[in-house]
Amino acid sequence: MQRAIVALSLAVLLSVAMTGVLPTAGQHHHHHEHQGHQDTHKHHRWRTPPAAYADKVSHRWGDDGAIARGKALYDTHCTACHGADGLGTTAFAKALPHPPADLMHHFHLHPGEGDAYLYWRVSEGGMVEPFKSAESLMPAFKTLLSEDERWDVLAYVCAAFHRGFE
Ligand code: HEC
Repeated sequence: MQRAIVALSLAVLLSVAMTGVLPTAGQHHHHHEHQGHQDTHKHHRWRTPPAAYADKVSHRWGDDGAIARGKALYDTHCTACHGADGLGTTAFAKALPHPPADLMHHFHLHPGEGDAYLYWRVSEGGMVEPFKSAESLMPAFKTLLSEDERWDVLAYVCAAFHRGFE
């Protein structure tokens, strides 16, 4: 039942994005090109998570069970935008007003530092600043996934995609 609601809400989100946003997506990309890479991808640099997330730590990196559960969640909730390869280059991704992050990079400045940041990003998505103003349409998964599920999906993201630190 919950799964059906989640699937439905994601479908609604995506169809809203399709009808509401896509007609102007080309313009946005055009505009961004002229602004230059620096401006539009500013938020891909490290941001300090808000105080409410500051002490969030994963105990699941490298946990095979979490990674397996996380893969199923990723396939359901993340592939439309981030792609099965984590690069965010699906046809749908290309039409978004703000391109999805490449999940292979930009995670941590050094090992252990990124837990709170990643958990914050999956929990709040593009519904908070500065990502909201940058027109990120990433959903806030705190309303769709439990805390455990958010850590599981991150365990998968890190195991499957993360390649080195900045
Ligand atoms: C509707 C499209 C969409 C969906 C669905 C989506 N994302 Fe995103 N995601 C984005 C966009 C766009 C960005 C880049 C803008 C931003 O940072 O908010 C992003 C950024 C991120 C970042 C930040 C990376 C960084 O370097 O700062 C993480 C982590 C992330 N997504 C993970 C996920 C996970 C995990 C899921 C599934 C549970 C997911 N996303 C689902 C669109 C999406």
